[in-house]
Amino acid sequence: MTTRGYSQSLFLLLLCLFHGSGQTCPSMCLCISDTVSCSSSGLMRLPWSLPSFSVTLDVSHNHLSWLGPSSFQNKMPRLENLWMAHNQISTLSHGVFQNVSGLRYLDLSSNKLHVVEQHYFHGLWRLEELRLFNNKITQVEAGTLSGLSSLKKVYFSFNQITHFPFFSIRDHSHPFLAMLDLSSNRMTRLLWEDVKALPGLVQRGLYLHNNSLICDCSMYSVFWHWNLRGYNSVKDFTDEHTCNIYGDPRASIRFLHPNRFFLNCSVETTVMQPVTVLLSNLLVLEGDRVRLDCQTTLSGTDLSFTWLSPRKDFITLTSINDTLISMFSNGTLEIKEISVNDSGLYLCTAVDIKQDLNATREVNVTVLLPAAESFNTGYTTLLGCIVTLTLILVYLFLTPCRCSYCKKPAATYNHSNLSSVFFSSTRDRPKPENIKHVSFMDPMMSEEGAEWTMVT
Ligand SMILES: *[C@@H]1O[C@H](CO)[C@@H](O)[C@H](O)[C@H]1NC(C)=O
Ligand SMILES: *[C@@H]1O[C@H](CO)[C@@H](O)[C@H](O)[C@H]1NC(C)=O
Ligand SMILES: *[C@@H]1O[C@H](CO)[C@@H](O)[C@H](O)[C@H]1NC(C)=O
Ligand SMILES: *[C@@H]1O[C@H](CO)[C@@H](O)[C@H](O)[C@H]1NC(C)=O
Ligand SMILES: *[C@@H]1O[C@H](CO)[C@@H](O)[C@H](O)[C@H]1NC(C)=O
Ligand SMILES: *[C@@H]1O[C@H](CO)[C@@H](O)[C@H](O)[C@H]1NC(C)=O
Ligand SMILES: *[C@@H]1O[C@H](CO)[C@@H](O)[C@H](O)[C@H]1NC(C)=O
Ligand SMILES: *[C@@H]1O[C@H](CO)[C@@H](O)[C@H](O)[C@H]1NC(C)=O
Repeated sequence: MTTRGYSQSLFLLLLCLFHGSGQTCPSMCLCISDTVSCSSSGLMRLPWSLPSFSVTLDVSHNHLSWLGPSSFQNKMPRLENLWMAHNQISTLSHGVFQNVSGLRYLDLSSNKLHVVEQHYFHGLWRLEELRLFNNKITQVEAGTLSGLSSLKKVYFSFNQITHFPFFSIRDHSHPFLAMLDLSSNRMTRLLWEDVKALPGLVQRGLYLHNNSLICDCSMYSVFWHWNLRGYNSVKDFTDEHTCNIYGDPRASIRFLHPNRFFLNCSVETTVMQPVTVLLSNLLVLEGDRVRLDCQTTLSGTDLSFTWLSPRKDFITLTSINDTLISMFSNGTLEIKEISVNDSGLYLCTAVDIKQDLNATREVNVTVLLPAAESFNTGYTTLLGCIVTLTLILVYLFLTPCRCSYCKKPAATYNHSNLSSVFFSSTRDRPKPENIKHVSFMDPMMSEEGAEWTMVT
């Protein structure tokens, strides 16, 4: 033992001579470029000197039981990853991470922490991932996660947590948080209103299976909606979602399987259909001002709208750089002078950010040229014929027939010409009494000449 100790100190001394005090690699560790690995080294405390350039420090699988206030002081300003899993750590003193505020990954899993005090992670605003699973945690203080605005994933599973401060997580406090694992704890009743108020991203990544939840309708309704939306947190652990009837652990049921117990629960059906497609058709003329609304099954003030044009351009409230197109905050799209090339399918997606729901509306816009040639759709031709025929009949009844050419009036009409004239006349919105003259006279004048001139 002593010879080993001597050789170690000699080695350290040599290292010091060569590298200066800030750069030494402790003998029990491996120092590889930006990483120091001291795992499974029987450490009782952190090594005194560590290379100051380290980005990653691995001290997992040791016997560390306590981290003092100066543990990282002046040592590793560049530290981003700190692995401390599988130790005996039960408390962290104030300001322990003060001088490693650039931490992004912190692993304290499989330790002996009891209470997560709110000062523990204070100032770690760059922290993205925090692992605290498999400790002895019974309590998480309310302010624990406040200020940790870069958080993406937090793991609290396999502890003895009975309450969690859901209210401390709000839209703007943790914009990137997409994983909050509270599975395998001892939660019986949750404040479901707080859970439902969590940002959509957090709800999607909230793991609550294998707790001791008490079966009731408010609980059931929350999971029912998450299940409907296909969240992985629910889908991947369907069998582990259990609750106790009347809180009795012997009467445990898998509540995501069909169960009579929840038959009398009414789940709010307003969000039953998260994705709907409403299709409508719109027939307009070139040059018209057109408004397409984005009315979907979603309602509320927190909706954001995106239109996808037939040319596959995305149109949002902020993206518009066009004097011909505008969009209102209610999602309505306005095209000031529509052209034939604007025909096609317009797709609007309304997204409810808070509830993480979206719904779609499609409008099939057909733009017609006002000129005759383009206007020959079956319907309008037929309509034109019927109107014309009616007008002829009215004319014939009201005017005494004087000649032989009245025999077969219909045979002299060119359908497409008539319909187009009829169409352009409605476009000019003539008074009803003019229709007869315009729609009836003009083509006849050009085609049949003098034969039809007796119209007054
Ligand atoms: C360590 O943190 C303390 C308190 O924030 C600060 O006064 C000190 O300058 C820091 N030391 C280094 C080397 O950053
Ligand atoms: C459920 O949680 C308990 C502790 O609360 C744990 O012992 C058990 O292994 C967990 N079961 C599963 C399937 O994760
Ligand atoms: C459903 O109704 C029955 C009888 O009225 C009641 O015993 C049971 O607790 C109710 N279930 C829930 C989830 O409230
Ligand atoms: C808007 O359009 C003009 C010309 O049409 C272009 O110069 C400008 O870069 C565009 N702005 C944006 C934000 O797209
Ligand atoms: C959207 O807003 C515009 C302008 O305020 C309004 O003209 C239009 O009727 C609205 N559409 C709907 C569907 O409410
Ligand atoms: C419409 O597209 C055609 C070719 O597809 C082009 O020749 C014409 O100029 C376009 N018209 C307008 C108004 O953009
Ligand atoms: C809308 O929701 C569906 C399923 O919920 C999803 O697949 C799709 O990507 C969402 N679309 C948008 C634009 O958010
Ligand atoms: C849109 O309308 C046009 C003409 O009415 C039709 O040919 C086309 O198939 C429609 N598209 C869709 C997606 O319904």
